[in-house]
Amino acid sequence: MQILREIGELRGAIKALKASGTVAFVPTMGALHAGHMALVAEARKRANSVVASIFVNPMQFGPNEDLATYPRREAEDVAMLEAEGVALLWMPPVDAIYPVGFASKVSVGGVSDELDGAARPGHFDGVATVVSKLFNQVRPDIALFGEKDFQQLAVIRRMVRDLDMDVEIVGVATQRDADGLALSSRNLYLSADERRSARALPRALSDAAFAILSGTPVEQAVEQAKSQLTSAGFGPIDYVELRDSETLMPAKDLERPARLLAAARMGRTRLIDNVPVERRQCS
Ligand code: PAJ
Repeated sequence: MQILREIGELRGAIKALKASGTVAFVPTMGALHAGHMALVAEARKRANSVVASIFVNPMQFGPNEDLATYPRREAEDVAMLEAEGVALLWMPPVDAIYPVGFASKVSVGGVSDELDGAARPGHFDGVATVVSKLFNQVRPDIALFGEKDFQQLAVIRRMVRDLDMDVEIVGVATQRDADGLALSSRNLYLSADERRSARALPRALSDAAFAILSGTPVEQAVEQAKSQLTSAGFGPIDYVELRDSETLMPAKDLERPARLLAAARMGRTRLIDNVPVERRQCS
């Protein structure tokens, strides 16, 4: 696996990879786990070579968020990517992404505005901007993103459609621990007690999804999910909401695929999760 940190070298290496086939791209912020590796495995199936990136993007962290403490585990990450057959790891220094005088921003309206967009102002501008830059640097044929960050996936799909970016976006199902908790680099922040309690998040969502599909009014199911979270020790709940899977507008009925999304704090750790709520699941 080539590990590159300089844009000139990257351009040459990408040219060589593209000359010998298709390139799939998996952008990450590192501290890799089986969720990231599922993206890499899917990427390998879909393209001749896989490029991954690790960049902890300052622009997508708010002033009171965890940029300084975000886990960094370079040696372990490199070993995992190497073992999965990644051809090239792009690890840009901050000034390869944000050179002195950097003044541009990609902002995706609508789909970015609510849910995590409301709870984390500027977050999705940071994501859209860095992903645009990474796409321009790597020029992949396809790029893979996890459904774990469902709103992020929707923002990227919208951006690619709106701006005619010539890359196919592939969503990959959320990978979970045995007790259902979605794998996340931020799970490392949880104490043992918090980690045990955190399983209430996927459980509350799947209970509510089942209730909605069984005819319980959405508001009632959502209130029930919120009280399950509170009883389990989740602190402020940012949201539990049923949304249209594509537009992320409030879902009025189940005529179209819907998604139940939640964000809540366990101690100092903010966790997010989501599950599909689709009629065809029942049949
Ligand atoms: P990061 O949190 O490192 O996640 C990188 C990719 O892994 C994202 O597409 C995310 O959705 C996916 N992922 C994380 N946990 C997952 C899980 N349990 N199951 C499936 N996929 C999972 O998301 C980011 O980084 C950044 O915002 C980034 C897109 C790299 C831009 O900075």
